[in-house]
Amino acid sequence: MKKTIGVMMTGFIVSSAMAADIKLPEPDKTNTTTLISALEQRHSDREFSDKAIDNQTLSTVLWAAFGVNRKDGKRTIPTALDKKDLNVYVFNKDGIWLYDANENLLKQQSSENHLDLFQLQDYMKPVSTVLVYTGSAEDYAAMHAGSAYQNVELYAAANNMASIVRGYYDREKVPEVLNLPTDQRVIISQAIGWKK
Ligand SMILES: Cc1cc2nc3c(=O)[nH]c(=O)nc-3n(C[C@H](O)[C@H](O)[C@H](O)COP(=O)(O)O)c2cc1C
Repeated sequence: MKKTIGVMMTGFIVSSAMAADIKLPEPDKTNTTTLISALEQRHSDREFSDKAIDNQTLSTVLWAAFGVNRKDGKRTIPTALDKKDLNVYVFNKDGIWLYDANENLLKQQSSENHLDLFQLQDYMKPVSTVLVYTGSAEDYAAMHAGSAYQNVELYAAANNMASIVRGYYDREKVPEVLNLPTDQRVIISQAIGWKK
């Protein structure tokens, strides 16, 4: 299949008729907010701007959630037996993407906008990026998701962004559109964006 290469925002997009993967920019690690200040400011936000987040910011958000932080491939969160039993999906207006932390890549899963599946509460209407955490093991994967969403909440607090963890989404259709392997289940979602 013929492939074309182009540039999208600050990341690279590798596209074909079937799918487009986005090579993300390197995460930005220059923020100097203290951990104590981020902990002081962490809170759930329910007032989002409709301004989309750029790929540079998304790369850093995903790195905070589940990125590689050491040369041996280990992550920003601990995982049971180092099995890394967690997947982070990004839902935005361009479709659904699976975060590949090793390659710092967004792998396209769908080109359809499914943000409506998270708009069961009115404040979600302007939200343009939703993270969905999936995993396999009943107990440990949920713990990993909790670690990842807390990292994102702290990142949001440190960067004047809005975020909220959300269990209220279409429980039937989200797993359906993700077309998950049989051993995977949806754990929780999280909206991330700019403050209104
Ligand atoms: C697992 C989980 C699920 C949640 N689901 C929702 C939700 O569906 N809708 C919502 O508005 N808030 C949701 N929240 C946010 C909580 O309501 C919020 O964390 C709580 O009110 C405390 O407020 P704070 O986060 O600002 O400290 C959820 C939080 C967690 C941890």
